[in-house]
Amino acid sequence: MITALRGMKDMLPARAKLYAQIIKTCEEVAKNYGYEQILTPHLEETALFKRSVGESSDIVGKEMYQFEDKGGNDVCLRPEGTAGVVRAFIEAKLDRANVTKRCFYHGSMFRYERPQKGRLREFHQFGCECFGEGSVYEDASIILMVSEIFNRLNIKTTLKINSLGDESSMKSYKEKLVKFLDENDDRICEDCKRRKLLNPIRVLDCKVESCQEIYKNAPVITDSLSDEAQADFEKLQEILTANGVKFEIDTKLVRGLDYYCKTAFEFISNEIGSQSAVAGGGRYDRLVEYLGGRASYGVGFAMGVERIMEILGEAEDERDGVYLCALDAANVDFIYNLGSKLRKKYPVEISYEAKKLQKHLQNADNKNAKIFLCVGENEMKENKIWYKNLETKDEKTIHLDDLEKELG
Ligand code: HAM
Repeated sequence: MITALRGMKDMLPARAKLYAQIIKTCEEVAKNYGYEQILTPHLEETALFKRSVGESSDIVGKEMYQFEDKGGNDVCLRPEGTAGVVRAFIEAKLDRANVTKRCFYHGSMFRYERPQKGRLREFHQFGCECFGEGSVYEDASIILMVSEIFNRLNIKTTLKINSLGDESSMKSYKEKLVKFLDENDDRICEDCKRRKLLNPIRVLDCKVESCQEIYKNAPVITDSLSDEAQADFEKLQEILTANGVKFEIDTKLVRGLDYYCKTAFEFISNEIGSQSAVAGGGRYDRLVEYLGGRASYGVGFAMGVERIMEILGEAEDERDGVYLCALDAANVDFIYNLGSKLRKKYPVEISYEAKKLQKHLQNADNKNAKIFLCVGENEMKENKIWYKNLETKDEKTIHLDDLEKELG
C-alpha cells in the first residue's frame, strides 16, 4: 500500500475545515492591519535560502528538500516564506520604488526534520511581511496582530521578545561572544564550535544542557545595543505595554534563521509539548541587500498552523446543508433536477438511490446535514415535499412553491 511520506499529513475534511477557519481568522486580522495576500512559488532556487536563511542555520545546513531539476537547476522546496516574498518584492522593483508594502501568505513549507509531535516535514504557515517600513511601530503592529489572532482563536500564549541590535551593536556583541567562546572552547559542543565560525550568536540557541549552563555567563546581547537599537527596543516595550500585551524579555532568543536584526520574538504555548513555538518573527533590515536588492527595511512573522490546530483540537462539526432524497426509483430524476436548481443557492447532497425513509434519515444524520427533504408517491401527487430540520427536529409537509422560502 502506498502511504503518505513520513512527516507529511493529509487533512481530511474535518481538519481541512479547521485549517480554513484558522486562516480566515488570520486573514481578517491581517487585513485590518493593512496586509494584502501574496502568492509565491513553492519551489525556488536553492541560493535564495542559502543567502537569506543562512548557511549556519539548521534549515539550510540539514533540512532542505534540495534537488537538481530536469534543466540542471539547483532548486529547493521553500522551508519558509520570507525569502520568497522578499525575492518577489525585489523582482517587482519595490526596493527602488520607495513604498511600503504589506503582504500576508499561507501555505506549505518543507523541512527535512526528524518528525515528532508538532514537527512535520510538510507543514503550513500563515505569515506576514512588511517591506520598506523602518519604524518600530510596525514591529509593534506585527506583534499586536499575532496577539489579536491568538485572542480571537482563544489560544493562550507567552510572548518572548529580544533585540539583536543593528549592524554596529551586532558587530561589537559578536566580538565579545567569540572571545567568551574561545575561553570556553574545550567545554562547548561540536555544533557550537561550528556556529562560532559561521554565526556565533546561534550558540545561544543550542539545546545541549552543558552548553546552556556555560552560556549563563556569556555576554548579554542587550548590553551591547547601540543607542538607536536600545531606544527602539524600549519603545517596542512601551507600545506593547500601552496596548495590554504582556511579554518576557529573553536575551537568549536569537531565532533559527540568520536574517534577523533588532526585534526578535516568539509566541510559546505550554499546551503542545516540546515543539512549543506557535509563531515567531522579527526585523530583517539587511535581507534585501543580501538578496541583491537596494537596502530596504523588512519585518514580519509566521505561525505554524498545525501547532495551532493541535491546541484547538478538531472543531465540532456543525450541521449544514440539505439532504435530498426519494423513496421510489421513479422519482430520482425529479429530485435530481430539483437538487440541481437548489444547488445554485444551497449546499445539497442528492441521494441517487431510492431507499426506505429510515435509511435515508440515517444517511443524512451521518453526513451531518441540517435539512432533510424527501419525496414519496403521495408528496409527488400533491406537488409537495417532506421537510425535517435535523437540528430542531421540526417536521412538516410543504408545497414545492414554498420550499425556497422555507430554506431561507
Ligand atoms: P520559524 O520560527 O522558522 O520562522 O517558523 C515559524 C513557525 O512555523 C514556528 O513558530 C512553528 O510554529 C512553525 N514551524 C516551524 N517548523 C515547523 C515544523 N517542522 N513543523 C510544524 N511547524 C513548524 C520562519 O519561518 C520565519 N520565516 C518567520 C518570519 C517571517 N520572520 C520574519 N518574517
